Amino acid sequence: MIIAVDGSAGSGKSTVAKLIASELDYLYIDTGAMYRAVTFTWLKIQELVPNFNFKDKLIPDKEIRRKILSEILGKHHEKALDLICQTISISFENSDSGIKTFINDIDVSDYIRSTLVTQNVSHVASYKEVRDYLVSEQRKIAEGTNIIMDGRDIGTVVFPNANLKIFLTASVEVRAKRRMQDLSNYGEETSFEEICAQLKRRDHLDSTREESPLTKAEDAVEIDTDGLSIVEVKDKILSFIN
Ligand code: DC
Repeated sequence: MIIAVDGSAGSGKSTVAKLIASELDYLYIDTGAMYRAVTFTWLKIQELVPNFNFKDKLIPDKEIRRKILSEILGKHHEKALDLICQTISISFENSDSGIKTFINDIDVSDYIRSTLVTQNVSHVASYKEVRDYLVSEQRKIAEGTNIIMDGRDIGTVVFPNANLKIFLTASVEVRAKRRMQDLSNYGEETSFEEICAQLKRRDHLDSTREESPLTKAEDAVEIDTDGLSIVEVKDKILSFIN
């Protein structure tokens, strides 16, 4: 059984998908974390990430690091990102403090949620090379298992035959409040206005890009989460499964 949950940033996808996964004992995959992991590596190769000392371990081969950087400097980002995708391995692990994201066995969970990564991820996610690679990884992960996967293109591109497709929406203001809470959990303070502006920018980039833009699949059930608690959203989705 495959459950696809799509929606814009802050629509509540990951919180609700995690709850459903634990209630049904399904595997949960946050595909946004995969796009963030690629973005983080791309930023790190350019020395744009402070306070992270594992660059050599993200991509241990010095020659490949040099090649990626030279493609970036030559403005061939598609080639650089293709090389990054061929070189890194992204994995997830359950822990007491939630699901951790690893690049080549290095825990990058906190780094991939930083504002710097958030500001760059929609751009990186617009490259076909990145999407082709991650979509094929996502399909591999789902083979032979009950899974709930969230993202932007799960019901439209990754699993057009998913058993259940959910599309979550919420107003910018409600989504910004949720993001502020998430960010303060990671120790970052950003103003409400700034978060609203960032969300609108990402909505625009995610839904107007050429490659698999964020759109509702024709056969997806749309749920407006404004005014609903997470448990209410979860129960609504479970009622469709039942
Ligand atoms: O869900 P999130 O905010 O962590 O996702 C980060 C970005 O990754 C989002 O702005 C768009 C991109 N993304 C995507 O293009 N396709 C997906 N399936 C998941 C995320």
